[in-house]
Amino acid sequence: MAKLKTAVLISGRGSNMQALIDYCAAPNATAEIALVLSNISDAAGLDRAAEANIPSITIDHKQYADRASFEAAVTQTLEDHDIQLVCLAGFMRLLTNTFVDHWRDRLINIHPSLLPAFKGLDTHERVLAEGVRFTGCTVHYVRSEMDAGPIIVQAAVPVLPDDDPESLAMRVLVAEHRCYPYALSLIAGGKTQVINEKVVIDGAQAPGATFLNPTDVA
Ligand code: GRF
Repeated sequence: MAKLKTAVLISGRGSNMQALIDYCAAPNATAEIALVLSNISDAAGLDRAAEANIPSITIDHKQYADRASFEAAVTQTLEDHDIQLVCLAGFMRLLTNTFVDHWRDRLINIHPSLLPAFKGLDTHERVLAEGVRFTGCTVHYVRSEMDAGPIIVQAAVPVLPDDDPESLAMRVLVAEHRCYPYALSLIAGGKTQVINEKVVIDGAQAPGATFLNPTDVA
């Protein structure tokens, strides 16, 4: 079976991108990372892509007059590479409805909270300020509202008494690195369907598959 041609869009460190690359390196993986696209020319993730021999390209948003022309260039590049699925991984640009609609159900994102709680930036600071006992991460299909869309995979992560935003971010990141490849494997394996704006896995609502404890998944 042909592998799902996947692009990863980054702006920085690229640790989630690395997790996707590592997953795709497995011989039985059903996806391949065919392109890494960054809007920042010196994003650290670009070095990781080079080390993995994955083609990468920078499209600097500052070189474009507006969001529409920047996104048109991104879409053109993705289509030139026959990309079938786009994974946002720390891509720090808000996307217009035009882009989101064009890639509908072919565009996914990872967010470091249990959505729909704690959308937006400074997630871990706000989690600690609220005193919630659990946080986590979410992989979801992208819709036009920020950090919204049908949820594919979530993992819950405990908030510990001595946590600061950095320690909590590190614990959540471990879960992210498990959830994102898992979500990609579900999609590339043809196991997901969006029905009434909910993700159905393998034809049935499967909470066991969509709620995963990081320690449960190798
Ligand atoms: C991750 O925490 C991700 O959830 C958020 O941005 C961060 C990106 O980190 N959207 P990295 O670049 O993947 O290391």
